[in-house]
Amino acid sequence: MVKVTVCGAAGGIGQPLSLLLKLNQQVSELSLYDVVNANGVAADLSHICSPAKVTGYQPSSKEDKDTIHKALVNSDLVVIPAGVPRKPGMTRGDLFNINASIIRDIVASIGKACPKAAILIISNPVNSTVPIAAEVLKKLGVFNPKKLFGVTTLDSVRAETFLGELIKETPSSLKGQISVIGGHSGDTIVPLVHATALVAKKVSGLSKSQYDEFIHRVQFGGDEVVKAKNGAGSATLSMAYAGYRFAEKVIGSLNGQSENSEIPDSSYIYLPGVPNGKELSQKHLKNAEFFSVPVILENGQIKSFVNPFDKLNVSSEESKLVDVALDGLQKSIDQGTSFVTGSK
Ligand code: NAD
Ligand code: LMR
Repeated sequence: MVKVTVCGAAGGIGQPLSLLLKLNQQVSELSLYDVVNANGVAADLSHICSPAKVTGYQPSSKEDKDTIHKALVNSDLVVIPAGVPRKPGMTRGDLFNINASIIRDIVASIGKACPKAAILIISNPVNSTVPIAAEVLKKLGVFNPKKLFGVTTLDSVRAETFLGELIKETPSSLKGQISVIGGHSGDTIVPLVHATALVAKKVSGLSKSQYDEFIHRVQFGGDEVVKAKNGAGSATLSMAYAGYRFAEKVIGSLNGQSENSEIPDSSYIYLPGVPNGKELSQKHLKNAEFFSVPVILENGQIKSFVNPFDKLNVSSEESKLVDVALDGLQKSIDQGTSFVTGSK
């Protein structure tokens, strides 16, 4: 049985994500932390007749660090959708100024209260917030790269949906058949659709403009939602589904379940800290330290990953997309890292 804490549990993502976690029979304790309305969300979810005991935690003031400590202690998994979402006209990078310090402070609390927990970071810009988390944990001497995950599952979910529409396949049948690697914003997102002969054949039947449109839609799918919500935020429900899909995989692995998908979902991870990650980074990724790759989990942590360049038939076009992605990624990684190393 597993204790899960959601930080940012009362938000647009936090509430539906907490609902999905409450329905998971393997969750024994669900701890809901937010600076507003955590108690209300917890009271509401606690009436659902599933095993998880739900508790809300809301700090009494900005100085109150005890409440988050109590929420986090003994957690096996912490999921973080805390922070501000985009409005039309903004990039995810524009969220850095506010969300960087939110992530820094929450992760510092995790490092003190439950340093062994797996950490799933949803808050944007993911390309920078994950490097921030890594530096904070390094400073505290508790960084386990096998347990730090940037959640990029929504990109895979979108790729399955949009490609399914185009090649007339049920989107769910594409899970484990295609992959999305790189980062989580615009042209740092790289969909790979040539891994299996069956899908590659169908993709080869698309016109160039259909293929280009598919890539663009996956890379900029977030903008579609931001525009449609017209100032009321970004993706929340599809993100709650995607965040849960990844969290469920971590929870399953904590309970001894193993991956049964040919190509597992990707996560944005610190490559030098996982087996063979440094080699992948040096050989194919211009030494980028953070990159999203399909990850295989065991006991709540990364056991190994699928090397896209060995196993996923990366096409020359996809290879060019990786090069573009790496340029953008490096700037975001540097921004995140120096936010912590440059600060006391
Ligand atoms: P929201 O504003 O609806 O909810 C955010 C919640 O975080 C609020 O309830 C707020 O009170 C809480 N919060 C703020 N500061 C906090 C703190 N210090 N401690 C605890 N809680 C705090 O926003 P949302 O739509 O749920 O989006 C949350 C984040 O997720 C945004 O940064 C958004 O860009 C990001 N996001 C990421 C993905 C992804 O694919 N990784 C997808 C969608 C959204
Ligand atoms: C998304 O991909 O939908 C999220 O990262 C939210 C956003 O700002 O687009």
